[in-house]
Amino acid sequence: MRILVVGGAGFIGSTSVETFVDAGHDVTVYDDLSTGHASAVVRPARLVRGQMEDRAHLTRVLRDERIEAVLHCAAKSLVGQSLLDPGLYYRNNVGGGVSLLDAMHAAGVTRLVFSSTAAVYGEPRRVPIAEADRTEPINPYGATKLAFEGAMRWFAASHDFQAISLRYFNVAGSTERNGEDHDPETHLMPLVLRVAAGEATHVQIFGQDYPTPDGTCIRDFIHVRDLAAAHLLALEATSEGDPSFEVYNLGSAAGFSVREVVEAARKVTGRAIPARVVKRRSGDPPVLVASSRRARRELGWQPQHSKLEQMLADAWAWKLTHPTGYSRPQRTDGTPVDRSTPRPGTPAPA
Ligand code: UFG
Repeated sequence: MRILVVGGAGFIGSTSVETFVDAGHDVTVYDDLSTGHASAVVRPARLVRGQMEDRAHLTRVLRDERIEAVLHCAAKSLVGQSLLDPGLYYRNNVGGGVSLLDAMHAAGVTRLVFSSTAAVYGEPRRVPIAEADRTEPINPYGATKLAFEGAMRWFAASHDFQAISLRYFNVAGSTERNGEDHDPETHLMPLVLRVAAGEATHVQIFGQDYPTPDGTCIRDFIHVRDLAAAHLLALEATSEGDPSFEVYNLGSAAGFSVREVVEAARKVTGRAIPARVVKRRSGDPPVLVASSRRARRELGWQPQHSKLEQMLADAWAWKLTHPTGYSRPQRTDGTPVDRSTPRPGTPAPA
């Protein structure tokens, strides 16, 4: 299959590209590198730098590369930022997304898989959350992802698209080659591992007064490798049948609390990882756990790597081999430092 991965230089996109390349597919990445990293794109995938809003450019790329199917992973994805700057989220996630749909229509490409989010559900009324449950986002991030799903639905109906939206829960882990390198970083696991590496003094636990067994929030973590496998299954599923728009939740259906994550990270890294309880972060639902029964039943998806310890161990291994993430530190004479030899992390303070 000739696949275009929009946003393929980011954490989830680049890992998906690896999976597609390993499975023998021909992959082109389209990314503006605003948050992604050119060096995350594994060969022989090709990187085209461009903006989502540039419909003419996107159309040319789809035609020139004779693309058969698209994976769309390019979105602004920080809840807090979306509340501060909703316009950015509507322009990028809705405006940019519709530009992609128009370009696909112009180029005659109708197969699309979209990276959506559990944030479309807002505060769930019940867990595990099923796809038919109420969607009532509580921030512009979730609202813009849901708005784009609406556009997909209508493109499927009006222009014969076969479209699948995958609603992710909490993504974690890494491959040997690609891992999480965000700036700013807001996610729990990478922040915990920064403390393990001595880059920060302690983890902040946002609230210990939630209605959960240990008082901290519970999240459904899924290994990025399992997510990449789901993307491939979904892309394959778009080749069958009539125009359609389908939604699947992707989680492991096993929730872990913030405290359990910190405790597991101590075991995996052998580091102390001091933690302090601070006040709740606004907008955090107490429990977010997915029912992924539909993805298992209809896509044949089976998470293989989503054990808590394995996700942490893989992310820790990547951190040790990429202590500065994707950035290439320069010597004072301007030559890049060779990062091929793993450097151990520095011990955390006692
Ligand atoms: N947390 C801490 N300390 C930290 C960071 C996080 O205690 O330093 C807690 C959070 O309060 C939350 C849990 O760890 O309870 C997980 O937080 P993350 O920021 O790692 O992830 P979220 O659950 O907030 O975000 C995920 C997805 C988003 C999606 C959201 C839906 O990453 O894309 O679920 O609510 F929008």
